[in-house]
Amino acid sequence: MTGAPFPIVRRQVAIDFEPVPPGPWFPAGGALEIMFNAASLSFPPTERFFIAAVRDYQDRISDQGLREQVQGFIYQEAMHNKVHLDCNAMLARHYPNCRRAEQISITTFRRLGRLPRWFRLSLSSALEHFTSMVADTLLHHPDDFRTIVPPEIADMWLWHAAEETEHKSVCFDVHQAVLGAGLLSYGNRLAGMLVATPLFLFVMLLWVAMVLKRGRPRSAVPVPQKPSTTDGAGRFLGRNMLGLLRHGVPWRLYFSYYRPSFHPWDHDNSGLIAVWKERYPDFGAGLRSPTT
Ligand SMILES: [Fe+2]
Ligand SMILES: [Fe+2]
Repeated sequence: MTGAPFPIVRRQVAIDFEPVPPGPWFPAGGALEIMFNAASLSFPPTERFFIAAVRDYQDRISDQGLREQVQGFIYQEAMHNKVHLDCNAMLARHYPNCRRAEQISITTFRRLGRLPRWFRLSLSSALEHFTSMVADTLLHHPDDFRTIVPPEIADMWLWHAAEETEHKSVCFDVHQAVLGAGLLSYGNRLAGMLVATPLFLFVMLLWVAMVLKRGRPRSAVPVPQKPSTTDGAGRFLGRNMLGLLRHGVPWRLYFSYYRPSFHPWDHDNSGLIAVWKERYPDFGAGLRSPTT
């Protein structure tokens, strides 16, 4: 399979995060909350990095279908950037260390921005593989997620997950279109993943999460009971940060990226987007969808 199996939709999204109560939101000891917040803080500089990486090669793409997908990709990532900045402004009110944690990704991606463009594209393709894997996990558990987080947070992440799935092949396809399918291109792709793996796990998630956690305020509201590991939420959550990484990332899918013949849509999870669209048919009309 090559290319996305459907058009990349341009949704206009605005979410009011004002009603979100100070944490902790999750009943599993805070790991999930801290990790998702770390990801939210990491996303704006990451998404700007992706946009710049594909823009740098835009003129060299001759395939009209791929050019349109690139435009859709840029739109979606720019919209994620905007909504996550709003979410992060809310987080800054709740976490004293928020700005310090945010700075880790800003500085990291500013430095990575000096790398050659062919490697920035490869790195973007590999990081997009990570975001699409986490999105896949999340979209398999929309109800579990919705029961344990505030509705504004659930709306944001489920929408982001659906769009990460929609555009999951764009960076990869641009990489293949401009660098070819030969050995050098494959080597570049592997090198990108070898750098992206520690970058995603240990910088964008764990390091940011640790800094955020150190300054975590005590909650004014009682912490909810930890769910039993036999219910949906328990299965989804894992017990701690490392447990979350173990259960939240489908590692078989991760290793498929190293196959020379790999394509992101070999793993066809378009059904998950169809389910999300069915549930939120009006999402992207500029209003937050009604919560279920
Ligand atoms: Fe995104
Ligand atoms: Fe993305």
